[in-house]
Amino acid sequence: MPTNTTSAYSDFHLQFIAGEWQTGKDDSTNTNTNPYNGDTLVEIQQATKDQLNEAYDAATQAQEAWAKQTPAARAAVLYKVVNILDQRQEEIVDWLIKESGSTRIKAMVEFGATRAITLEAATFPNRVHGEIRPSNTPGKENFIYREPIGVVAVISPWNFPLHLTQRSIAPALALGNAVVLKPASDTPVTGGLLLAKVFEEAGLPKGLLNVVVGSGSEIGDAIVEHKAPSLVSFTGSTSVGKHIGELANGGEYIKQVALELGGNSPFVVLKDADIEQAVKAAAFGKFLHQGQICIAINRVIVEDEIYDDFVERFLAHVKTLNVGDPNKQDTAIGPIINEKQVKSLKEKIAKAQEEGAKMILSGEIEGQVVPPHIFTEVTREMDLSRNEVFGPLVGIIRAKDEDDALSIANDSMYGLSSAVFTADMQKGLRFARGIRAGMTHINDISVNDESNTPFGGEKNSGIGRFNGEWVLEEFTRTHWISMQNEPREYPF
Ligand code: TAP
Repeated sequence: MPTNTTSAYSDFHLQFIAGEWQTGKDDSTNTNTNPYNGDTLVEIQQATKDQLNEAYDAATQAQEAWAKQTPAARAAVLYKVVNILDQRQEEIVDWLIKESGSTRIKAMVEFGATRAITLEAATFPNRVHGEIRPSNTPGKENFIYREPIGVVAVISPWNFPLHLTQRSIAPALALGNAVVLKPASDTPVTGGLLLAKVFEEAGLPKGLLNVVVGSGSEIGDAIVEHKAPSLVSFTGSTSVGKHIGELANGGEYIKQVALELGGNSPFVVLKDADIEQAVKAAAFGKFLHQGQICIAINRVIVEDEIYDDFVERFLAHVKTLNVGDPNKQDTAIGPIINEKQVKSLKEKIAKAQEEGAKMILSGEIEGQVVPPHIFTEVTREMDLSRNEVFGPLVGIIRAKDEDDALSIANDSMYGLSSAVFTADMQKGLRFARGIRAGMTHINDISVNDESNTPFGGEKNSGIGRFNGEWVLEEFTRTHWISMQNEPREYPF
């Protein structure tokens, strides 16, 4: 494992605006706490709208020169970022554990995904390309240029803060854009300030990356409505995403939006599946990061013939999972991010019982640690099935047969990720193609993200795709330029 020979980053109480670390000028303070033990990690004076304007001005100014830099120069910064991430791996993992309540396992997964997208983004400056298209007008040539989009506003969530922020900012910067980022209030360090330190150390010119820490309800609208950004890249809940979509297209300035929103991933186990493997997958895909992942398994759907067997083995396996201190090597389930989320999970537990689901596993909620809860005889109409859980609660639905399983899987207003287990690959592919979602994994969990494959959802799960050439298109604009090489004959 790489060792850190440099001193740890500090001064996370400051904002990163116009390439300077400055004190927030708002009266309010963000108290950043460890969700496991309540320790205060840092107090951050929040940013004002004037500071947000300053960030946008700096980004607008810096972007032009950055776009003109050679692809090699931009790629070099990204490669340097990868090196710094490697050197500081332990420091970063430690922050993910203490700030976002990540278990060590999840923090390592997140670190790996962050590294991978940075490496992928480092190839973008040299991969981006235009086209020459034939023309039906004699003497004309058509050139399609692909240009940076300009300034990108990034708003990110707290669950995979490092990765979900980097997944937007690394491609944006690699492709010649500048960024103003607002991390989630629960994770200002791992969702923003830590990455600003890394990019600064890597030599990113001043003003290209700005991190503005403030509450979404206070400065969120101003971030979206500002004249400067041409694209708003938002990852978070469907309700806030809808609001951002309205603001971005209903105000004075029309902007593009990339929305990565909530999910309700079905995990389908057909009767010919390898049950043991499906059980392990269901546990990992459901309980990784306490279930607080947009692509986490939200509904387990099992064919009738194997339902009882699956439930029995799943229950036995989940009972072996360690719950508690996220810093311990073998902890599978750590704390929930904040008290508000814990309250919402308590309500969901009560509602599931009210609605007639059978609770076959529960446990005492201690502080923000919620042990796994398993419900059987869950129906598609129940709250557990209809809505995103975002916690370690799971409902298991009985399906009559394959067709019924597909119908249940598609019975959702979300369409982000999904999974199906079967021994028959053709059946698996047929089933997968029948699911209306952005992503389906056969004989694996719904939680998958690879830097070179398209990540994103359908329906209320959002608009747009991350990773590979899909994000490359998202973070650039096309410009058709035609050239008339000989005098054209006009009708009048
Ligand atoms: P949200 O409450 O939507 O928060 C996400 C971000 O939006 C935070 O930075 C938040 O800031 C900000 N925000 C809140 N109100 C805003 C406003 N009016 N204008 C602009 N920004 C505003 O979601 P969350 O609680 O962080 O995350 C949980 C949800 O996000 C789940 O539904 C989950 O499925 C979804 N999610 C989706 C994905 C993908 S990839 N589809 C990934 C992760 C999470 P504050 O923190 O300051 O409120």
